[in-house]
Amino acid sequence: MPTAVALDSALVDLQTYGCQMNEYDSELARTILGREGFRFVAPDEATDAAGVVLINTCAIRETAHTKIYARLGDLKVRKRAQKDLVVGLLGCMAQNLKTELLERWPSVDFVCGPDAYRHLPHLIAEARSTNRAQHASIELSEYETYEDIAPTRVEGVNAWIAIMRGCNNFCTFCVVPYTRGRERSRDPLGVVEETRRLAADGHKQVTLLGQNVNSYRHDGRDFADLIEMVADVDGIERVRFTSPHPKDFPLKLLRVIAEHPNVCNTIHLPLQSGNDRILKAMNRGYTQEEFLDLAALMRASIPGLTLTTDIICGFPTETDADYEDTVHVVREAAFESAYIFKYSERQGTTAERKFPDDVPDDVKSRRVTELLAVQREIARAKNVAKIGSVERVLIEGASKKDPGQWRARNDGNFIVVFRDPSCAVGDVRDVRIVEATPNTLIGEPVPA
Ligand code: SAH
Ligand code: SF4
Ligand code: F3S
Repeated sequence: MPTAVALDSALVDLQTYGCQMNEYDSELARTILGREGFRFVAPDEATDAAGVVLINTCAIRETAHTKIYARLGDLKVRKRAQKDLVVGLLGCMAQNLKTELLERWPSVDFVCGPDAYRHLPHLIAEARSTNRAQHASIELSEYETYEDIAPTRVEGVNAWIAIMRGCNNFCTFCVVPYTRGRERSRDPLGVVEETRRLAADGHKQVTLLGQNVNSYRHDGRDFADLIEMVADVDGIERVRFTSPHPKDFPLKLLRVIAEHPNVCNTIHLPLQSGNDRILKAMNRGYTQEEFLDLAALMRASIPGLTLTTDIICGFPTETDADYEDTVHVVREAAFESAYIFKYSERQGTTAERKFPDDVPDDVKSRRVTELLAVQREIARAKNVAKIGSVERVLIEGASKKDPGQWRARNDGNFIVVFRDPSCAVGDVRDVRIVEATPNTLIGEPVPA
């Protein structure tokens, strides 16, 4: 057996899976633990010296769980050699499976849900002092917004800001209302203050996060008011947000997006299905016609809009004809891009209780593959149409494939690669598009 690396008890290896909300929460965890003297392994550093391994987990589909089980398998082996290693599971899977995880995985010392991160220092100390007795901190809160905790951000041009937590929508397929609890909105003044600090630290872009930003409310202010306040902060070149819900999209928000040059003309509008019966079973609160009307109104109100979506294939009882309705909406709405998923039954959801997961896996896979092909063709045509146009881009860093080129994003959040030695990270430049692939635009700088 190889000799084990000596453990540094104050060094934490924090790994994050799942969505941007989890990224943001990991930044909160860094602050909470940093205040107690913990230090963190750098994102691209590989080390077995960290005395604490924390995994911020996702539960949205079974594949998210599978990834974590694979990591736990590795850690089980590591823990045999490094007995003092503390392993904690954070996030949505921890909240969803709770003590079941502790029972199945003796190498896990504690689970800690999304509303319990203030307990992290205590959970680590307890794991050490009580000789591996396992612990769970999984109370969900109606109030916790971590308002007083400034996230410790890992350098970058963009900063995530959670403006609300939880979700009250209970789409029947979705685990999030159970893992993140009831919806609560942060004070807009706190969000603006956080944005000011970010601008002062050199961040050029903020992305406002919520499971359904349309239901943001605080002291009479709604999401359109909040985004306007954030857009007015000096030094913020771009404001993005995710996600609104098609069922209660406010027209005022379209006006704010159209009128503020630094609010990006990009909307992520999750469709989930194009069939009215399936939409009803999903508890989505809109019909195919209402979705398409809204998409058309958005395109008419915001010139150059980038409209993206999420789709689930193979929700219980979905027939080929139902699926064809989704294909129809994809063609009609002509999304710039779409995330397409196979339905994955989640423990505790209404769909699990009411509808047997009856679409065979190979049918789900076929529908995903076909729909991806339809979407890829739409995206390719839209990208090709951009050749010759001038796009304003924000430089995020060096291209991974060719470090001599910049990787930047246009207003629509698409990657644009170009070469210009006079630029730096965080610069905003005009670039002419000269070539297009389905996922990347290639540009050349336009002389100022
Ligand atoms: N609050 C966000 C969704 C977050 S989850 C919103 O409503 O926009 C991101 C996406 O995962 C969802 O839009 C949905 O398409 C997908 N998803 C959620 N639950 C799923 C499940 N059980 N199976 C497959 N995909 C799912
Ligand atoms: Fe899940 Fe629906 Fe809430 Fe989105 S709006 S997090 S899909 S329950
Ligand atoms: Fe995000 Fe996954 Fe939780 S998508 S909200 S980390 S279940």
